[in-house]
Amino acid sequence: MTTYEAIHTKVSMYHQEHLVDFYHELDEHEQQALLKQIDQLDLSSIPSMTAKGEQTNTSITALPSQSALELADQEKAQLYNRGVSLLSEGKVAVVLLAGGQGTRLGHVGPKGTVTMDDTPETSLFALQAKQIQAQQREANVQIPWYIMTSPINDKDTRTFFADNHYFGLKREQVTFFIQDVSPAITPEGKIILADKGQIFQAPNGNGGVFTSMKKAGILKEMKANGIEWIFFNNIDNALVQVADPLFIGYADRDGADISTKSVKKVTPSEKVGVLGQRDGKPAVIEYSELTEEERHHPLLQDANIGIHLFKLDFLYRTADASLPYHLAHKKIPSIATDGTKIDPVEPNGYKLELFYFDVFPLASSMTIFQVDRENEFLPVKNKTGQDSLEEARTRFSS
Ligand code: UD1
Repeated sequence: MTTYEAIHTKVSMYHQEHLVDFYHELDEHEQQALLKQIDQLDLSSIPSMTAKGEQTNTSITALPSQSALELADQEKAQLYNRGVSLLSEGKVAVVLLAGGQGTRLGHVGPKGTVTMDDTPETSLFALQAKQIQAQQREANVQIPWYIMTSPINDKDTRTFFADNHYFGLKREQVTFFIQDVSPAITPEGKIILADKGQIFQAPNGNGGVFTSMKKAGILKEMKANGIEWIFFNNIDNALVQVADPLFIGYADRDGADISTKSVKKVTPSEKVGVLGQRDGKPAVIEYSELTEEERHHPLLQDANIGIHLFKLDFLYRTADASLPYHLAHKKIPSIATDGTKIDPVEPNGYKLELFYFDVFPLASSMTIFQVDRENEFLPVKNKTGQDSLEEARTRFSS
C-alpha cells in the first residue's frame, strides 16, 4: 500500500504539494484513492510551463508524393490488385481512433454514434463497418478491426456495437482497447484537482495509441497473425475508404514506414495538420501550432486527413517512444485553494495531449498519396457550416 509519507516526498520533489492539501479532510477510503491516483502519475513528464514557447529554427522541405488521380489505368489496376492480394493473405489490420469526445459537435455519446439519418445503420461506426465488409467480400477474408476507446466512451461504444450486432461483422474480429488519461495543469504548471480527493483526468490525446496497443498485447497478436500493414484512421471522416486496396498496394510498392493519404488544404487557415519534413524528418505540424508564416508556406499545403498505413515493424520500434505533451487551453472544473468549487466560464488550465504523429520523425521514410477531397474527406467536426454534420447529412441524403 502507498503511504502518505512516500507520496508527500514524491509531490514535493516536483513542486506539486498542493495535491495533498485537503488530504486530512478526506475519509480513509478517499485518502487511499487519492494516494493511488498520485502514485500512478508520472510527474517527471508534466511540462514545465517556463519552458513553453521556446522557438527553434527548423528547415522545412517537401515529402515525396504521388497523386492517385494521375495514375495510369493499368498502374492503378496493378496497385489495386496488389492491395487485394495483401488483404486476402491476411496481412492487413485496421486501427480506428475513437477515443475522442466530440465536444465541438455537441453530441452526447461516442462520436461514432453520430448518424446521417437518425438510424444506427448510418452512424459513423456503421459506415466504416460497411467499408470493411465490402473489402472482405472483395478479398474473401476476415479483416481484424481494432477500435481505440477512452474511459469516457468505452462502455457506450461496446454497447452500441453489441446492440447493433457489430453491423454485420463477426464479434471476434472486433477488438476494443482503452487509451490512457492524463491530468491538466494551471498556467503555473500545477496539476489541477477536480475535487478535494480527485485529480482532474481526461483522455490523453490520440498519441498514446501505440503504447496502449502494446499494453493490450495487440502488437504481439498482430505479429503472431502475420499482419504486415496497419490501416489507421479517424472516426469522423464520413467518406473514409477503410482498407482501400489501391492505397495498400501503393504503400506496399513504395515500402515506406508510413504512407499517408492527403488532400490539398483549401485555405491557409483550414484546421488541418500539414505533412512535410522538418529538419529532414517526416512530420505533421498541427494546425494549432502552425505560425502565420507556416500556414502560407508553399511546401506545407498537404493536409493530414488522418489516414495512414504503418508497417507493423515501425510500430514495434515506436511503441515505447516518449512523446511530448501538447497543451490545450480549456475550461477545467476545479477546486480553489480555499476548498471552494470552480466551474470556470473562461479557459483556466491546460489539458495535456499526446499526438500520434509525433512518432513520425522516427520513421525512416514517409510518402504521400494525394487523393480527391470530394470523394475521400468529409470530416464531421462541427454542427453546421464547413466540416459539419449538416454538410455530411446533406451529402448522404443526395
Ligand atoms: C485531427 C488531426 C489533424 C488532422 C485532422 C483531420 C490529431 C492530433 N490531429 O485533428 O492533424 O488534420 O484530424 O480531420 O490527430 N482521439 C482519440 N483520443 C483522444 C483524442 C482524439 O482517440 O484523446 C481520436 C478522435 O476520436 C479522432 C482522432 O483522434 O478519431 C482525431 O481527433 P480530433 O480531436 O478529431 O482531431 P482534430 O483536432 O480534428
